[in-house]
Amino acid sequence: MKFFNREKEIHEILSILEGEPNIIYFIYGPLNSGKTALIKHIIENKLSDDYKVFYINFRTYLISEKREFIEAIFTTKKDDFFEKIKDKSEVLNLITKGAKILTGIPIPEVEFDKLFEEKINDAFQYLNSILLEVKKSGKQPVLILDELQMIKDVVLNWQKYLLKELFQFLVSLTKEQHLCHVFCLSSDSLFIEYVYSAGELEGRAKYLLVDDFDKETALKFMDFLAKEILNKKLSDEDKELIYNYVGGKPVYIYSVIDEMRYRKLEDILNLMLKEETQKLKYFLKELDYIKPKVELKDEIIEIKKDDIINALKLFKENYEVSDDDIPEPVYIYLVKKNILFLNPIEGILKPQSFLIWNAIKKLLNGH
Ligand SMILES: Nc1ncnc2c1ncn2[C@@H]1O[C@H](COP(=O)(O)OP(=O)(O)OP(=O)(O)O)[C@@H](O)[C@H]1O
Ligand SMILES: [Mg+2]
Repeated sequence: MKFFNREKEIHEILSILEGEPNIIYFIYGPLNSGKTALIKHIIENKLSDDYKVFYINFRTYLISEKREFIEAIFTTKKDDFFEKIKDKSEVLNLITKGAKILTGIPIPEVEFDKLFEEKINDAFQYLNSILLEVKKSGKQPVLILDELQMIKDVVLNWQKYLLKELFQFLVSLTKEQHLCHVFCLSSDSLFIEYVYSAGELEGRAKYLLVDDFDKETALKFMDFLAKEILNKKLSDEDKELIYNYVGGKPVYIYSVIDEMRYRKLEDILNLMLKEETQKLKYFLKELDYIKPKVELKDEIIEIKKDDIINALKLFKENYEVSDDDIPEPVYIYLVKKNILFLNPIEGILKPQSFLIWNAIKKLLNGH
């Protein structure tokens, strides 16, 4: 599918890339807002060959221990090949010539095995030397860590030091050495907040929001897709209707218009809302027999169902609510369950999607 819009975000990220690396960037936004699609579009279509991009997507791996974390970052395989990398000269070849984008840090197989016996710092030192080589060859290195929340298990459950070491290393790449641009992507804003404080990133990291499309852009996206997929124009009423159901989430707009090839619009939208409403209904029912709890500042806090209902009720009239209006453990729980999205910069909570918002309004009507 063709990429649509995001001119403002593209301009901002390209401007950052044109400058000297100085700071770590967190690209965050609601689930499925288009963060991965945006960064991929930029590196694939907007960046010249003067850049060398190391794009690491943690979602490709199941990461529950240090070994898997290292495996996710380093690859012993040549891109698109299953051939192993034998020696340093092959690595040099890959990073100074070859493709603009690599999906891991290349390392000879023997050295890769050694990484597990040594301290994590040695792995970062190796990575540092690779980035220096890239720079020496006249290219600007860029490091992208996508789906950062996938390392949550490792770093929260048993290797907290890993997170600190990783981010101290990223600080050194940016603020200290000005060697490599660093972008970390995630929809888990609670985890990003945690990383920010645990990694001691004050003044060393910035946030970039990639939100769902606003209404005007969403309507234009519908026009664009209708032409591409249906080869026709949608009426203003149809577009309003779609927006009222699914809002500005690109993935939903796409699937509605794609299904319009073989189903009636009303049926598509009603089914989507029904599914979302059922999910929310089961979530609320479950609260009768599980005891919802969250960990907050090393304390386990139980949450009452009524408090959850009361929090959700605030969204009957509003799409956005201040995080001061809902007790912290309650909104943390709802954010963790992907019902709400927290924008920690603005201190604003909103449903993860218009669909969930509609489901909330439908279910809590009369409450
Ligand atoms: N600007 C866009 N133009 C066209 N399609 C888009 C655009 N943004 C997102 N999409 C579509 O939406 C889908 C979901 O987007 P994407 O996976 O990038 O979201 P994400 O924010 O990375 O999600 P997650 O929160 O799971 O990481 C993409 O596969 C793509 O089809
Ligand atoms: Mg993504």
